[in-house]
Amino acid sequence: MFDIYFVTPPGLEVLTRQEIDQIIHQYQLVITNFHPEKLELSCDLRSLYIFNLTIRTANRILVRTNTFKATNFGELVDKSSKFNWEIYIQPETKVKIRTTCKKSRLYHSDAVTERIIQGLKKRLGFEPNAVSTKQDDPDNNEQLIVVRFFRDICTISLDSSGAPLHQRGYRTHTHKAPIRENLAAAMLLSMSWDGKTPLVDPFCGSGTIPIEAAYLAQNIPPGINRHFQFMAWRDYQEKTFTEVKDLLTTAIRKRPLQIIGSDRNAGAIQIARQNITDTPVSKDVLWFEHAVSNMEIPEQPGMIITNPPYGLRINTNKDIRNLYAQFGNVLRERCEGWQVLFLCNDLKLATQTKLPIKKIIGFSNGGIPVSGYYAKI
Ligand SMILES: C[S@@+](CC[C@H](N)C(=O)[O-])C[C@H]1O[C@@H](n2cnc3c(N)ncnc32)[C@H](O)[C@@H]1O
Repeated sequence: MFDIYFVTPPGLEVLTRQEIDQIIHQYQLVITNFHPEKLELSCDLRSLYIFNLTIRTANRILVRTNTFKATNFGELVDKSSKFNWEIYIQPETKVKIRTTCKKSRLYHSDAVTERIIQGLKKRLGFEPNAVSTKQDDPDNNEQLIVVRFFRDICTISLDSSGAPLHQRGYRTHTHKAPIRENLAAAMLLSMSWDGKTPLVDPFCGSGTIPIEAAYLAQNIPPGINRHFQFMAWRDYQEKTFTEVKDLLTTAIRKRPLQIIGSDRNAGAIQIARQNITDTPVSKDVLWFEHAVSNMEIPEQPGMIITNPPYGLRINTNKDIRNLYAQFGNVLRERCEGWQVLFLCNDLKLATQTKLPIKKIIGFSNGGIPVSGYYAKI
């Protein structure tokens, strides 16, 4: 069994927890030590593959491999060399180590990283191919190692995902201020949108929300076409992975959907169309080049889930205030019976819509703290 934990953007913990629960039940996974509040559990390799392929909101899944006490550097090198690193690190693997130290005698994170590398070298017999230890995300075939010291206890975890899980592989082009795919999925999940009613994104940009919606409604695994770091591990079971992919493919529910993405910018619509072209949902979204004032609204009421432009200087930016007021007018005049969820970085701006809004979700979008405002129209 592997002890794993899910790294998810702050603000998405509850949704990730619900997703984990749902995946466990849907695929009848054998799980022990489930700590929902910590997003931790123990599972077998097959379940690790299923989680990586299917979770929509998390950034990555780490496997906790090693925990020991160390109060001096000699002890740290010695104990970190006792672990079977050869399963995870080959001479060609690039290694990225992220270290944090709290309330410990070994408190200097760079020095700790250096000793972990020494331990690795001692065990492996070669110098690991270490790349920058800074916070940027690993690329394909970079093994991220997360080292955490807390009260002199060192915990080492290995990332099983590789490139962050929001990188589904379909978004090859982007327009202005694209939202990450896992945040778009979180918006859809927070509304419990299930594909049975229409969905409209009138500020669709590169098309992320409509594309994620089509994947979600058809239960298509978000990671079905991507590479994972666990595929480079020596214990990788290709047969199990193929069986898992087959199983997930049989769980896909192809069905007619009413999803519309529109944007006033022709370039954005072109990019959205390019992004969806090579996906299994290529035919499931209708795209229109329209300003929000002309947005298409299907007859049957559904949901508007969208990420309008933000005003970073609200008081001086009259255009952006007008845009929100106009958005509110269109919704009140033409969308009776619909529900809306829109992202905004400022409550004052959000209230320009004059809708009875309430915040139902919050997270950081491209470094900007934003809230998801819900209203029933
Ligand atoms: C924050 S971006 C949306 C990003 C999108 N969620 C994505 O993932 O790429 C806002 C979008 O609103 C569009 N937009 C701005 N004013 C608009 C208007 N009046 N009507 C329709 N679209 C508008 C912009 O062209 C831009 O693509």
